[in-house]
Amino acid sequence: MDNILSNTYRVPFLDLRVRDTSLKNELLQAVDRVLTHGRILLGPEVEQFETRIAELSQRRYAVGVNSGTDALYFALRALEIGAGDEVITTSLSWIATANAINLCGARPVFVDITEDLTINAELIEAAITSRTKAILPVHFTGRLCDITRIAQIADEHGLYLIEDAAPSFGASYNGSKAGSFGHLGAFSMNPMKLLNAYGEAGAVVTDDEELRDRLVSLRYAGTVNKEDCHFPSPNGRIDTIQAAMMLVGLGRLDDKVSRRRANAKFYDEALGEAVICPKEPEGYFNVYYTYTIIAERRDDLKQHLEAKGIETKVQHPILMPYHTAYRDLPKPNIPVAEDLVQRILCIPAHEDLGTDEAEYVAASIREFYGV
Ligand SMILES: Cc1ncc(COP(=O)(O)O)c(C=O)c1O
Repeated sequence: MDNILSNTYRVPFLDLRVRDTSLKNELLQAVDRVLTHGRILLGPEVEQFETRIAELSQRRYAVGVNSGTDALYFALRALEIGAGDEVITTSLSWIATANAINLCGARPVFVDITEDLTINAELIEAAITSRTKAILPVHFTGRLCDITRIAQIADEHGLYLIEDAAPSFGASYNGSKAGSFGHLGAFSMNPMKLLNAYGEAGAVVTDDEELRDRLVSLRYAGTVNKEDCHFPSPNGRIDTIQAAMMLVGLGRLDDKVSRRRANAKFYDEALGEAVICPKEPEGYFNVYYTYTIIAERRDDLKQHLEAKGIETKVQHPILMPYHTAYRDLPKPNIPVAEDLVQRILCIPAHEDLGTDEAEYVAASIREFYGV
């Protein structure tokens, strides 16, 4: 039996099986269409997908790539960021954020976070040096960071702004979508994301035609007209089959977001006395990629929930600068991240969570704290 089928949790964190038969049929039909027309590499569905992603993220162009990591890497390469450059980023993210900077030859400079789990915009200016080329904030957990303030800082200092919007497709601030603020925005569509492939996928968005052209080259060995290599680069093209399946997923995205938001609202009310719940300040629209609580005695709570058959996750237990690969960099000053990383916990809040399951999770958390 494979891992997912042998998942014995009463409330799993996420279930990647496609159990909705109408969705399954639509997905299979989408795959069938690709197999039938045979344009497997950069087929027509890729262009349709890119058009939709650009529209939905309020940009002129989208370029489909093989993963969110590729999206970030190609975005940095498109801006010619490389050896000797510094890129300011957050301390708490999936390590792909730092890796993309490192893989370009540049150095990540890690800045502390706030209680919303995103980079503290007010600490960015102190981290700028003559080598700084870009700011790369992350819209973590499905909500935007303090992006307008960060865009203002980037502008004032002549820096590029790249949004790591990997988990936040569809999120917005004052009606402006994740990915629409920077020179470039990067998304992941891996299977855990709300807009998910059934394998790996990602996209980069921009309004700049020249950057779009460079991204198209970069995703295919750095070639121009698919022939002559101008800048050595890996093969990071998006799969046509994945694009076709995501076109199906796009039709159901709003419904997924609404269901996650309803779960979040329930938890906000049920858990407010027990833990710190994610905030959604005025103007923010959170898609709740994760519902991340800040909890005292987090490890004991996690164990208590585990014993009750509730699967939870810590995203992410190791702060980016403390991964082995980055330990030789100057020690960052990140006390808030160091504190919060001990207290964050993602609880099940996905779109298929039943009301009884959400009530069970909330009751189990309240029981732990005796409230
Ligand atoms: C914030 C962030 N950045 C980048 C990535 C990398 O995306 P991918 O897994 O598609 O390479 C992820 C993936 O989860 C992420 O959460």
